[in-house]
Amino acid sequence: TTITWSTEAAEKQGYDHYMLKEIHEQPDALASAIKPRLTSENAVVFEELDQSFFANIDRIEFVACGTSYHAALYGCQLLNARGIPAHVHRAGEFSSYPAAIDERTLVVAITQSGETADTIESIHRVNETDARSLAVTNVVGSSIERIADKTVYIHAGPEIGVAATKTFSSQVATLSLLAAYLTPTLGSKTASNSALLSSIAELPTAVDTVLSTADSEYVAQTLVNRPNRFFIGRGVGYPVALEGALKFKEITYEHAEGFAAGQLKHGPLALITPESAVLVVFTGDHDEKTVSNAHEVRSRGATVIGIGPDQADGPRRVCDEYIGVPSLTPELSGVLTNVQLQLIAYHCASALGRSIDRPRNLAKSVTVE
Ligand code: G6P
Repeated sequence: TTITWSTEAAEKQGYDHYMLKEIHEQPDALASAIKPRLTSENAVVFEELDQSFFANIDRIEFVACGTSYHAALYGCQLLNARGIPAHVHRAGEFSSYPAAIDERTLVVAITQSGETADTIESIHRVNETDARSLAVTNVVGSSIERIADKTVYIHAGPEIGVAATKTFSSQVATLSLLAAYLTPTLGSKTASNSALLSSIAELPTAVDTVLSTADSEYVAQTLVNRPNRFFIGRGVGYPVALEGALKFKEITYEHAEGFAAGQLKHGPLALITPESAVLVVFTGDHDEKTVSNAHEVRSRGATVIGIGPDQADGPRRVCDEYIGVPSLTPELSGVLTNVQLQLIAYHCASALGRSIDRPRNLAKSVTVE
């Protein structure tokens, strides 16, 4: 007898790559992160935490690497918007040059695998101080869990593709819930979570809608033969731009760079030529400024591709192509635009015949400093 199937093909469930399968698992992964923690009255529950753990905390410092670093940047914005002071550090820097922390600091390590050496080492440094630590991870029983004071799981299920996809969405969803959970005790008296929480509840369905639109495959074709591509955004569109560029370079091996939209004119504009493509992330908040940034590159001949809320006249007018996503509160629209950027990277890498699930030189978890 001949065996005509492999375990791996069976595990991919009909998808060509684990990455594509994992992109499509996002609605379910998000539901697993959200449902147990959000009651029908939109109250947030974290069974693994209690509010006393956060007593007297006046500052949150995030440490993370790669995609998890981008999720941390995203979460940091949500905390700051609620009056909770927060900063983000690359774990590879923090582990040698820690921020000034004390007994009023909570250090939050974001790590999908729970095994990244730089992130683990950062928490070892925290443990030499009076600061508290919280790990946000996907892998139950991972090393980070043993050294952090408390652990929260993102419940995304196993992720095989080296390029992180569903775990980013689940990290952002978990950090959104955490931001809402901490607002009454650590946030400003005027901060409101109602728009955030109702959009979190809608997130799995909204991502499902994004996955059923086919625009990304078509847009990907216009990105293949270029010397460079730039990804820009502001607010939560900024970490999404960085993550979109990271995903693109990881699996296509082509040059891509992410910038804060307002930073373009302070240097990167010199790189823009008519051969450049610029992907612009809109969120529905301060979009008029991002429209001006898009004008700056378009007037230099670049092809401008916008990704943002469906209802967006200004952004649609300035872009050569525009991919709309369902309208959620701007704070969460970045999760939806990021899914489009995952698909764009995937389709480009596929057109170029790259090794999508195991990109050259990269590892799923990096256990050396
Ligand atoms: C490696 C992987 C990335 C990942 C990063 C952090 O660089 O290739 O996809 O984002 O490690 O991994 P972690 O498990 O700590 O989230």
